[in-house]
Amino acid sequence: MAFGIEKFDFVDETPLYKLENISEDLGVNFYIKRDDLTELGAGGNKLRKLEYLMKDAVNQGATMVLTVGGAQTNHGRLTAAVATKLGLKCAIIAIDSYPGELTANMLLDRIMGCELILSTDDGTDEDEQIDKIKDQLIADYEEKGEKVYYIPVGGSNVLGALGYFDAAMEINEQAKDLGIQDATVFESVGSIGTYMGLYCGLRYANSSLRLTGIAISPFGKTKEKRIVEYFNEVKEKYDLEFSATREDFHIETGYTRGGYNNPSKEVRDAIYYMGRREGLLLDPCYTGKGFAGILDMIKEGKISKGKNIIFIHTGGFPGLYTPHHRVEFEKELLGGVTILK
Ligand SMILES: Cc1ncc(COP(=O)(O)O)c(C=O)c1O
Repeated sequence: MAFGIEKFDFVDETPLYKLENISEDLGVNFYIKRDDLTELGAGGNKLRKLEYLMKDAVNQGATMVLTVGGAQTNHGRLTAAVATKLGLKCAIIAIDSYPGELTANMLLDRIMGCELILSTDDGTDEDEQIDKIKDQLIADYEEKGEKVYYIPVGGSNVLGALGYFDAAMEINEQAKDLGIQDATVFESVGSIGTYMGLYCGLRYANSSLRLTGIAISPFGKTKEKRIVEYFNEVKEKYDLEFSATREDFHIETGYTRGGYNNPSKEVRDAIYYMGRREGLLLDPCYTGKGFAGILDMIKEGKISKGKNIIFIHTGGFPGLYTPHHRVEFEKELLGGVTILK
């Protein structure tokens, strides 16, 4: 519980440990924080944000939550999981066209009883398109007697940021217990909430840990502006005693590999490497891309040998089964399948 703000408690402490094989191969100390092991809905980072957001929803008497994302949104899947557990209805707006079959997360959303509203990108500003659909849906649901709580994309608002504010405390303590000094925490950046929570939490705790975000989609003008605004909103809301400007946020923007959820050979190779050396599954949209970025940074000498790395596994493995990634995996992996006659 940060700043006395109530939250649900459905995320237990997750393990932080060293990946011995990869560390030896790469000449660094590579630690992993297993936030993919959080409970409910197949796990992932969004559950930490949802501890706060869903408490707020229940406190406000909501009967239903409405959120937004892509068709393959992990945040939507985890919102659906928590909502169903709490007895609330859930719906997700996805600005996407129907991909010809249920994507992995769409399937899981529907299994958990969540309604999906797909809307093809209409070429107008995406935020305006979302607002229009959202306002209409809320009016329709409320006419049917529901009280709707709206969660913005990725759960990335001032309340959602507290999930990773708490996680920063947890990581800081675990790193101390393991005697990890002078380490950098790496995590994949989408809607910035995870990064912002970690940034504020680590600074609040006067932690010696540094933080690097790896952008998974182009970090254009809107995000450049948003990251500073977002910090100021959090600072104001919780009366933080420190300030920050854009230069204080270390985001690597050069490893986006063609944009959001784009299939990429280097990302698949990073996924195979992690799978084959450590038996851990990353995803093609976030964690695989983040890990591929770290591998490049080591090759480029941006991360030097002997460094301590803490990589947050933020979840997302169902993304491996998304149709447009599956076809590429199929081409590369079928060769290792022997079909006996
Ligand atoms: C698996 C995974 N990792 C990382 C992120 C990025 O988190 P954020 O949107 O808070 O930047 C997401 C967001 O959807 C995610 O699903």
